[in-house]
Amino acid sequence: MVTTQLPDVSKKLAQLPPYLFVRLYALKEKAEAKGLKVIDLGQGNPDLPSPDNVVEALCKAVKEKTWTHRYPQTRGLKEFREAVAKWYDRRFGVELDPETEVLPLIGSKEGVAHLFMAYLNPGDTVLVPGPCYPVHYNGVVLAGGEVHWLPLKAENNFLPQLETVPEEVARRAKFLLLNYPNNPTGAVLENDALLKEALAFSERYGAIVVYDNPYSEIAFDGYVAPSYLQLAGAKERGIELHSLSKTYSMAGWRVAFAVGNADIIAALGKFKSFLDYGIPGFLQLAGAEALNGSQDYVRNTSRRYQARRNTLVGALKKHGWEVSSPRAAMYVWAKLPAPAAKLGSQRFAERLITEAGVVLAPGVGFGPHGEGYVRMALVGSEKSLEEAARRIGKFIKGLK
Ligand SMILES: Cc1ncc(COP(=O)(O)O)c(C=O)c1O
Repeated sequence: MVTTQLPDVSKKLAQLPPYLFVRLYALKEKAEAKGLKVIDLGQGNPDLPSPDNVVEALCKAVKEKTWTHRYPQTRGLKEFREAVAKWYDRRFGVELDPETEVLPLIGSKEGVAHLFMAYLNPGDTVLVPGPCYPVHYNGVVLAGGEVHWLPLKAENNFLPQLETVPEEVARRAKFLLLNYPNNPTGAVLENDALLKEALAFSERYGAIVVYDNPYSEIAFDGYVAPSYLQLAGAKERGIELHSLSKTYSMAGWRVAFAVGNADIIAALGKFKSFLDYGIPGFLQLAGAEALNGSQDYVRNTSRRYQARRNTLVGALKKHGWEVSSPRAAMYVWAKLPAPAAKLGSQRFAERLITEAGVVLAPGVGFGPHGEGYVRMALVGSEKSLEEAARRIGKFIKGLK
């Protein structure tokens, strides 16, 4: 019997290659099947257990507050929104109205993607610093928009040069994205100059500033990361996203939030209300406990990542690869040495998995401006980081 072919997926979806880690994990599984003990520094997937008080709050809520088993509302529980507002006040001195200026998200990845869908018409432009977290550009493509890259270069400390954006692009841009501490480069803001420039840019041209800030609490050597909303007038022109994924090692819980301009928050909330019901109630109550409770866990987490950073950077150096040491987030962003750069970051990463049993993220996975680099996540024990560095060093030497 002749059957008719099923329809193609949309052009928007077809033009995107498979998600970065989907490809790498297929190779990882193959290598493991062959008996290699693979060390995975690919994804920034926190491996520390979530805080005890939060786990307990979740269990208690699931058991005792059975109303949380019902559909939640997209706008979220008052308890969670108030906890977010208080945390922002304590941590950044930023005042938020929990009724109108806070929106829970099922992870900030979801928030970024849906924000673009809520605002972009076909062909609309978004200013995206690159390299970047993949949803910063994939989300634009899936929403039918167009990415205008702002290259992040080592010689500019991985900061975008807003003055180089052509006037006509600046006028049509609907969003300006920023993310510091930065994934994947690990760059941080030393002062508020870029934030001020972004605000002035938004006031002049109209683009909404989206400050993606999931790494603000993972900082080393005394560095304290800012919030975009600390700037006077910032709330008029944008929103900030924050996540419990890294701060409290709760990546699997999918708890995050958007804060800032009430109109933008309302538009995102309206869009989401057609698609999801927000975060399950018991997770919001546990999230509120994370934000309201003792923050010792957060301080310890930064210390742990800092020790891992020292170990990995030191071990890579010992094995012949001098890389710069990040002051925040949970990644080492390293320029490939000549013989490895010739392969290209994707091929390098693929061969490294198959031949040395180490997964890292190829720079090109973070957009075209990431080529020539790789990203190593500070996950796993210090012993395994040392072993990964040994294997990487040996693999690179073998290329010469
Ligand atoms: C810059 C950036 N934004 C957002 C996210 C997503 O975080 P969430 O777990 O809240 O979706 C990540 C995760 O790695 C990230 O690096």
